[in-house]
Amino acid sequence: MGADVKKNRLKVQYVLNGVLISTMVDTGRRLIDQLRDTHGLGSVKEGCGTGECGACTTLVDGKGMCSCILLVPQINGKEITTLEGITTGEILHPVQEKFIEEGAVQCGYCTPGMIMSAVQLLSDNPEPSEDEIRLALSGNLCRCTGYSKIIRAVQAAAKALSKEGN
Ligand code: FES
Ligand code: FES
Repeated sequence: MGADVKKNRLKVQYVLNGVLISTMVDTGRRLIDQLRDTHGLGSVKEGCGTGECGACTTLVDGKGMCSCILLVPQINGKEITTLEGITTGEILHPVQEKFIEEGAVQCGYCTPGMIMSAVQLLSDNPEPSEDEIRLALSGNLCRCTGYSKIIRAVQAAAKALSKEGN
């Protein structure tokens, strides 16, 4: 990591949705601002801005993290995935498809973060129980859906992914 201490700027490298990025950033630059403002990734939502609501959940080396409380220098050398990185062209990820089919989206503000947490869960645990799904999504708050449809969507996505794997 190159440093320009006088100007409080650092050189960082990271892989974002499969693309290697090498850039200078302010040492205090938040990851959420880098993703939304520098890279134009509008799926990353800001709710609380304090690590409480999960709207900004982004995968860092495959683990869901709140991008509002991460600084860009902290993700130097890491792999970052947002919702934009899990689609293949026009083809949605099975978790996205099931959220739509099950009606698990209302205002949609929490949805990208929910989906990223679900993607991590199903990658780590392809056959989660309902309790495991609830626990995995416990850091993602939704004010619209009452959660039941979200849980059903994740269960349906688990089934779809296991069929794909067979
Ligand atoms: S906006 Fe990051 S956790 Fe709420
Ligand atoms: S769908 Fe509105 S906050 Fe979850």
